[in-house]
Amino acid sequence: MRRVFALLLVCMATTLNAAPDYPPLSRVVSPIGGEPAPLLENIKQPPLGLPAMDIPERNPVTAEKISLGRKLFFDRRLSFNGTLSCGMCHVPEQGFTQRELRTPVGLEGRFVKRNAPALYNVGYRRALFHDGRESSLENQVWQPLLLHNEMANPSIGFVLDTIAGAEDYRGLFEAAFEQGLTVETVGMALASYQRGLVSADSPFDRWYFGKEEDAMPAQARRGWQVFQDAGCIRCHTIADDHAHFTNDQFYDTGVGYARSMGIDSTPEPVRLAPGVSVVPKVSFETAAANDLGRYEATGSSEDRWLYRVPTLRNVALTAPYMHDGSFPDLQSVVAWYNRGGEPHPGLDPSIRPLNLSGKQVSDLLAFLESLTASNVAMLEADGRSAGIGDP
Ligand code: HEC
Ligand code: HEC
Repeated sequence: MRRVFALLLVCMATTLNAAPDYPPLSRVVSPIGGEPAPLLENIKQPPLGLPAMDIPERNPVTAEKISLGRKLFFDRRLSFNGTLSCGMCHVPEQGFTQRELRTPVGLEGRFVKRNAPALYNVGYRRALFHDGRESSLENQVWQPLLLHNEMANPSIGFVLDTIAGAEDYRGLFEAAFEQGLTVETVGMALASYQRGLVSADSPFDRWYFGKEEDAMPAQARRGWQVFQDAGCIRCHTIADDHAHFTNDQFYDTGVGYARSMGIDSTPEPVRLAPGVSVVPKVSFETAAANDLGRYEATGSSEDRWLYRVPTLRNVALTAPYMHDGSFPDLQSVVAWYNRGGEPHPGLDPSIRPLNLSGKQVSDLLAFLESLTASNVAMLEADGRSAGIGDP
């Protein structure tokens, strides 16, 4: 008996010493990696369809600032416990938003009530956040850095100390800014990187502004007509020589009202058994009901449930949609507009039943899909050229 046991031990020992001849259960995760792109040129010579960008005089954009800003943006050490970077809620491969969740999750699983906006072309926005409560990219950064349910740093000084204590930042702020590392230059660097996320030259741009006949398929060209006739263009505006597909204004399209009243804008049937589905009548999500939109930035009652018009550039890449991410795809957004939103006092008069036919709906969708820029992969790879801030 004792000999058998000893033999077993020997066998086990040999097995343990030998190199495993089976595939490991977990995959080795290698860094995604990527090449930095010429973001400075991207800003100075925007791709077809976008105008010159207004850059604040106090923060002229330079290559040093962009590369420092990129490093900060993807650095997990900038959150209280070193696990969450800007780039984890604004994910390059997911349209610089988060496609897996309606609303992203902050530090230690904390609830964030709004959808993370895609950051493409954010350097052109005059009003930041869904309620427009901030106007400067330089200042904006301190909200995610300090908010308890985002990166949760206890103070500005804490963030500055984190950066000052990291070996790999030595000399970088001094090279980019005369004043070195300060509360202001953190914002200036992050703003400079984000200004570089200029993205256009879509099939629509090449057809409409570039006069390339075949750049956009016929279906999308018909969709462009629907887009104008249905009045979308009133808020998702375009100019003579460029297009932002937003006028940076605020409207009540009924989404905020519907959510506050607990009306699920996209009730999805739940499958109980093969062939048995029900549309649930009860919603267990209550936290989102506290969103009053623009009112939260102005305090005036007429601003209740108004939200900023989002750009439609790259919209096919940035699901889910609306301030609360309550629409899973473009089909459901178009269906919402087609039935006239959610009628209530305060609904913008241009949101009314459109009576679009099935063909017009597919044409409109084809048009929205033709707004995807040509440099998306470049911006992704550029983001991944930065590390992720290993401790
Ligand atoms: C926990 C997820 C999360 C993290 C981390 C995060 N963001 Fe955001 N970001 C959001 C959400 C959600 C909003 C919209 C908030 C609102 O409208 O009230 C937003 C909005 C923004 C906006 C405004 C965009 C627009 O179109 O108005 C910018 C710019 C931005 N974030 C940059 C950053 C930067 C820079 C960092 C890192 C310092 C960062 N974010 C970290 C989730 C996040
Ligand atoms: C009265 C102004 C107005 C009109 C007209 C309008 N929109 Fe919008 N659109 C908005 C606002 C405001 C939002 C954001 C609402 C929110 O976040 O709750 C929005 C959101 C969207 C979104 C979601 C984008 C995202 O990133 O979340 C799409 C897509 C869209 N609109 C397409 C259209 C189409 C197509 C039409 C025409 C059928 C149209 N819009 C008409 C103001 C308008």
